[in-house]
Amino acid sequence: MSSKPIAVVTGGAGFIGSHTVDRLVELGHRVVVLDDFRTGKRANLQRWLDPRHAFDGSDPALEIAVCDVSHGIFAALAPITAKYGRVERIVHLAAQVSVVASVANPLVDMAVNYGGTLHVLEYARAMGVAKVAFASSAAVYGDVETMPVGEDTPTQPVSPYGIDKLASELALDYYAVVHGVPTTALRFFNVYGPRQDPSSPYSGVISIFSDRAKAGLPLLIFGDGSQTRDFIYVGDVVRALVAAVGDGNSRLVANVGTGGEITVLELARTIVELCGGRSTIAHAPARGGEILKSRARVDRLRELGVVAETKLVDGLRATLA
Ligand SMILES: NC(=O)c1ccc[n+]([C@@H]2O[C@H](COP(=O)([O-])OP(=O)(O)OC[C@H]3O[C@@H](n4cnc5c(N)ncnc54)[C@H](O)[C@@H]3O)[C@@H](O)[C@H]2O)c1
Repeated sequence: MSSKPIAVVTGGAGFIGSHTVDRLVELGHRVVVLDDFRTGKRANLQRWLDPRHAFDGSDPALEIAVCDVSHGIFAALAPITAKYGRVERIVHLAAQVSVVASVANPLVDMAVNYGGTLHVLEYARAMGVAKVAFASSAAVYGDVETMPVGEDTPTQPVSPYGIDKLASELALDYYAVVHGVPTTALRFFNVYGPRQDPSSPYSGVISIFSDRAKAGLPLLIFGDGSQTRDFIYVGDVVRALVAAVGDGNSRLVANVGTGGEITVLELARTIVELCGGRSTIAHAPARGGEILKSRARVDRLRELGVVAETKLVDGLRATLA
């Protein structure tokens, strides 16, 4: 049996997941990724499969199990725990990540995003997992007018995606209170950084703009560009996840944003400039239903010991590189 604590990362082959894996391995965890690779990529994890990163030269720091979390995680983890011992911590990120797809197919969204969370929590309850950290979303708030958005703002999700994230938070709280499973839910605002897939429907505007600006193509803004977002760099999100899964707290729900906001027009101009100024900026009619302002209150995140410290321009440089 291994002396290294096992940390499971569901969705670990994805954008935020693979950065989380990097950090946990660097901190000395044995990491197990559970992913069905519907959007995740093996290439995001490749470096840890290199024998040079193995513990004691032969014992891999990373194990990957192909698993659809909506079908349960016991069977996928059994051979790994038989070899290395029990799972200590779980970062649960696996999800159907498209709001649009959740509207088109709410039952799939429920099975993966709510059902998957229940499977993770059932495992944690049965196996005595020390901590579960979960990727929730600012989508639980719906259309809020008063900024910044604090965690005590009434939740009113306007998509099946937001509903399933909120239902998952309720399940986390239920398992914490009734079954004693320590849990933390982090409500991510707009996350950006390297490895975000510009072709993904959920991909933030940053990866789409970056892709186009690098190719010298025009950037298209819906409306006048005065809509604002709280963009947070993936490295800062990972610090929040690692803090949340490593601490002894339970039942915490915290926003993960910078506490600041930037207009989409300012963002487009900055990206064009960083890419050498070849692209023009074009405007299309505003999209109905688009949220106009978004900015997180981050006091609770600070209580977790995390402050988003990456400046937008530095995060953008890393993303463009
Ligand atoms: N990127 C953002 O701005 C943002 C904002 C709010 C919340 N989130 C949440 O953060 C988490 C990670 O998102 P991301 O941006 O890294 O997306 P991503 O698509 O890059 O990662 C999701 C990962 O989950 C895997 N996955 C999907 N369904 C699965 C299933 N049924 N079983 C096993 N694995 C499955 C995918 O293959 C992928 O590797 C998600 O829970 C998402 O809802 C992201």
